Amino acid sequence: MKTTISKVSNFVGQEVTIGAWLANKRSSGKIAFLQLRDGTGFIQGVVVKEEVEEDVFAKARAITQETSLWVTGTVREDDRSPFGYELAVKNIEVIHESVDYPITPKEHGVEFLMDHRHLWLRSKRQHAIMKIRNEIIRSTYQFFNDNGFVKVDPPILTGTSAEGGSELFHTKYFDDDAYLSQSGQLYLEAAAMALGRVFSFGPTFRAEKSKTKRHLIEFWMIEPEAAFVEHDESLEIQEQYVSFIVQSVLKNCKLELNTLGRDLSKLENIKAPFPRITYDEAIEILKKKGINDIEWGEDFGAPHEVAIAEEFDKPVFITHYPAKIKAFYMKPDPKRPEVVLCADLIAPEGYGEIIGGSQRIDDLELMQKRYEEHHLTGGSYEWYLDLRKYGSVPHSGFGLGLERTVAWITGAEHVRETIPFPRLLNRLYP
Ligand code: 4AD
Ligand code: MG
Repeated sequence: MKTTISKVSNFVGQEVTIGAWLANKRSSGKIAFLQLRDGTGFIQGVVVKEEVEEDVFAKARAITQETSLWVTGTVREDDRSPFGYELAVKNIEVIHESVDYPITPKEHGVEFLMDHRHLWLRSKRQHAIMKIRNEIIRSTYQFFNDNGFVKVDPPILTGTSAEGGSELFHTKYFDDDAYLSQSGQLYLEAAAMALGRVFSFGPTFRAEKSKTKRHLIEFWMIEPEAAFVEHDESLEIQEQYVSFIVQSVLKNCKLELNTLGRDLSKLENIKAPFPRITYDEAIEILKKKGINDIEWGEDFGAPHEVAIAEEFDKPVFITHYPAKIKAFYMKPDPKRPEVVLCADLIAPEGYGEIIGGSQRIDDLELMQKRYEEHHLTGGSYEWYLDLRKYGSVPHSGFGLGLERTVAWITGAEHVRETIPFPRLLNRLYP
């Protein structure tokens, strides 16, 4: 019976055939342990010299790393392995021999691994991270579909900037200029006026010359936007959403978290509600901790976010930032117009900002004033004003950066491991 590693639990005591690659191997004169992987999982194949044909044992001893195989054997339970099953191998058929596979079980430098990303993805650790990334995506769709949000796909080629001009990727659009999307938000606001609650999940481009463990040039963002939802309700949606994805990963990716050695107690604690502090309170916390290199009105850097997050064991919302350091579309607090109804969600354990969001300006005159202040002239922003002309309503939305969230949940040091093919400041290969 042909099956996959993920399904062997259905075949205990039975003979199965699995298409696999040899990830690693240990052998003596009498027995060979084959670490097999097939994409769905990893399993140990045990080849005992006395129990197989002579040529099968010879093959088992000779096969090289990443050789592709058909392996036939009997599934048995194995309490010692975290996976719980192993394969008593009867036969091996080589599909294609792999010679001198570059990534060996020894340690390699980061640049070497990054140059071989197309192969590095096969490793157990990278496999676990990609599976958890997938579970976050899956549970994202589940959460928003279950809560009445409609998936909408904003354009990637745009004529406008959503988050400020300096980080835009420029390209030609025949004879015109165009930019790669740095946020679908403006389009999502239009879609929310048509569909009520919407969300997008798409590639996002930022030509940021940042070389940090949190910055990618191309990343994936989940952007929900909801009509008739004000700031506080938006924060509730955010904490429910983040709790849901963390709990889904805990439930459905135990083996992968285990492979990564993730501290589960830290994740188990991630349940709504999350603490909320204002920007002013955040500045106070920093001052109390002796961090004085920041004044009211300045934006937080990574070290500030980390210092604030240390005070909490859940993600923390920092709300009401000064208007002048935030985007043009954020709604001022009616009680205190120098700050805006916004929040950044800061992940625990030093992972920094994973969500940026806000209530949006819904007043036409104020939006026109912002256009002047931000020099949003020319025709390309004209349509966005229409949303404030024809039945404007209070509305809010946010963007969650997928890779930073994957880094936090998996415990990966750097976002380069959280996306299949990272685009970094100095890397477009492979
Ligand atoms: O805070 P940002 O810039 O917010 C927006 O783009 C809003 N328009 C979203 C919205 O309200 N619809 O980005 C949102 C999130 C950040 O919190 C971060 O997680 C991630 O996107 N992000 C990045 N991730 C990786 N590399 C980068 N260069 C990133 N820039 C932002
Ligand atoms: Mg932000």
